[in-house]
Amino acid sequence: MKLLIASRNSDKIKEIKMIINRLDWEILSLSEIAPDLEIIEDGKTLEENARKKAEIVMAKFGLITLGEDTGLEVDALQGQPGIYSARFAGEKATYQENVKKLLELLNGIKNRTARFRCVCALAFPNNLNIPTQIFEGICQGVIIETPKGNSGFGYDPVFMPEGYEKTFAELPIEEKNKISHRAKALLKVKEFLQKIDTQFHKIGYSKDLS
Ligand code: IMP
Repeated sequence: MKLLIASRNSDKIKEIKMIINRLDWEILSLSEIAPDLEIIEDGKTLEENARKKAEIVMAKFGLITLGEDTGLEVDALQGQPGIYSARFAGEKATYQENVKKLLELLNGIKNRTARFRCVCALAFPNNLNIPTQIFEGICQGVIIETPKGNSGFGYDPVFMPEGYEKTFAELPIEEKNKISHRAKALLKVKEFLQKIDTQFHKIGYSKDLS
């Protein structure tokens, strides 16, 4: 089976490939097949953005396509930055600029609880007759005051997952990929794909999955 990831974010693609980890599935990303394709993320929810990415890319390339959108929701900021996580400090903001703005807004605030929410959309070629499927994964934690660790990306240096004394950026990537929002959503994606892979193989329809 071929699975196309509707993303050019190399940090995300690396994690998605590690988590899905099926040697018999070919996992491609936009970086490899359409590095210039821009999809405007103008949805009002993570689901709208994930669905839009998956469906536009599926319609263009005709492959089973995964769209993914993630947001960091901070309770003391009424769920911000949420869908604006990538551009919190401005349209072209770097990870560091976004983290700096977050820490400034939380300066002096005691309640540091937050969660990462990841929504994955799977869009299928029309001949498979499967509507777009939505999967969600959540990871609870707190925002610490000073960034720690060099692993991961984005807000990882300031996000300490519940039950841990280390930030995502201090944990080995294999450990983050066991407990993260993305891992939880992708586990559901993987189960769904395994189910249809088996079903299509049984009825000799596997050709259309590739
Ligand atoms: P988007 O899903 O491409 O809109 O990106 C959302 C933004 O959230 C990214 O630019 C990162 O800053 C951040 N982000 C997404 N996933 C993670 C993660 O696993 N750890 C830390 N930050 C993340």
